Order: sequence, then structure tokens, then C-alpha cells
Amino acid sequence: DAIAYGLDAPDVVEYHDRLPSTNDRARNLAVEGATDVLVVAGTQTGGRGRLDRTWNSPPGGVYASLLRRPDRPPAHAPVYTLAAAVAVARACREAGVDAVIKWPNDVLMAESERKLAGVLTEMEGEADRISWLIVGVGVNVDVSGGELPATATSVRVEGGDADRRRFCQRVVETFHALDPDDVLAAWREYAATLGREVRVETPGGVVEGEAVDVEFPGALVVRTDDGERTVHAGDCEHLRPA
Ligand code: BTN
Repeated sequence: DAIAYGLDAPDVVEYHDRLPSTNDRARNLAVEGATDVLVVAGTQTGGRGRLDRTWNSPPGGVYASLLRRPDRPPAHAPVYTLAAAVAVARACREAGVDAVIKWPNDVLMAESERKLAGVLTEMEGEADRISWLIVGVGVNVDVSGGELPATATSVRVEGGDADRRRFCQRVVETFHALDPDDVLAAWREYAATLGREVRVETPGGVVEGEAVDVEFPGALVVRTDDGERTVHAGDCEHLRPA
């Protein structure tokens, strides 16, 4: 089942010293008909984040996008995003840095909650099947504090092993080793959001309450004054320190 989910190893790995955006490169490859490609760049000139934000991409970071055509319904796409966040968080821990995940896919430093990494998933779906899916990760690995905004940090700043190649390899290996049925359980192990008071800006309005669980394919369950709400997408803020 891992193969159908597309978590197995990519056929092709492309490395570029500099690209506008690895997600854009992967998208062009998808439009040309490619599949199973991992695109890695040393730096990006037009890195993109979630919610139309830009992603600061100085040299020393890991910028990588995986193109897949999994035989899954479009609604399953969030599983890949969560799997990528788990892979990055685990790679951070292996590098000696105490990383946690903020729903859905921000990788943060445990106590300061400064951002180490993010995941941007893009997809084109047909009615019942994903046509192509791109999972892009950006990680501040060998980046100095001066190159980062105040809300961010890096593996190097946190005193971890900042070898980019090793880091990238660990992310890819963990992503491939994950059993899709275990993604939610693995995500919960790293989650900083569960049990916390949160404020989530969703396309349908603000949801506030205690985050109690994550459920397939990656939705956050929030206990509000009006009962439980299941949130599928949005920007999540932790309201109080852990
Ligand atoms: C976020 O937290 O907003 C997600 C950031 C995702 C950034 C990565 S870097 C590699 C890939 N290419 C991009 O342009 N964006 C993603």
C-alpha cells in the first residue's frame, strides 16, 4: 500500500544550485508528464510558502519538492503533508534538535516555537484521483541567525548537525519508510498542538478552543464552547505556552 500512496523512493533526483522554486520546477515537470521526481535546490529566488506567503530561501537551507502521481482520491492529499512534516521533524531530532509540529505542518523548535521548517503541498486532481501531487519542504538547516526573521531558527543556530546532504537524506528516507497507516500516529508523537488552546483561521471563519486530536486525512478536531469542530485547513495559532 505504500507504493500506491507514493511514499516509496523517487526514480529521479534533480539537484540545482539555484532555482526560482523547487515546487514550480516540479510542477513544470508534472505538466510535461514526468512522475516520481525529487527536485532539490541549494537556494531559491522565488520560494513560496503557504497562504501566498514568500519563503525566505538563503543558501544553507534544504529546499526540496517531491512529485508523485499516487492512485488516491484528492481528499487524501493532506496525508502527504503530514508525512512530510513528520519526516522533517524526525530528521531534526536525528540532527540533535528538539523539533515539534504545529498543525498542520509547521516544524518548530520545542520551547521557543521558532520555525525550523514548513511544507507546501500542491495538487491537481481529477474527480476521484490525484493527477499529480507535489510536496515541497523548506528547512532552515545550515543557516545563520542573521539570515532569519526573528520568529525563525535553524538547525545550526540550535546547535544541531547542520550537514545539508545528511539532513536531506534523512528526510527522504523517513518519508519513504513511513507506512501510510501510521502517519497520523507518527504525527501525534511530534504534535505540539494537541491539548493546547488554539485559534485557527479557516476559510469559513475563526475556530477557537482546545485542539483534541488529528483525524484522517489530517483534520484538526477542536473542542469549542459550541461542541467539537473538525477543521480541514487554516492558519493555527497556539494561544498559550505549553
Ligand atoms: C510554509 O510554511 O509556508 C511552507 C513553506 C514551504 C517552502 C518550500 S521550500 C521548497 C518548496 N518550494 C517552494 O517554493 N516552497 C516549498
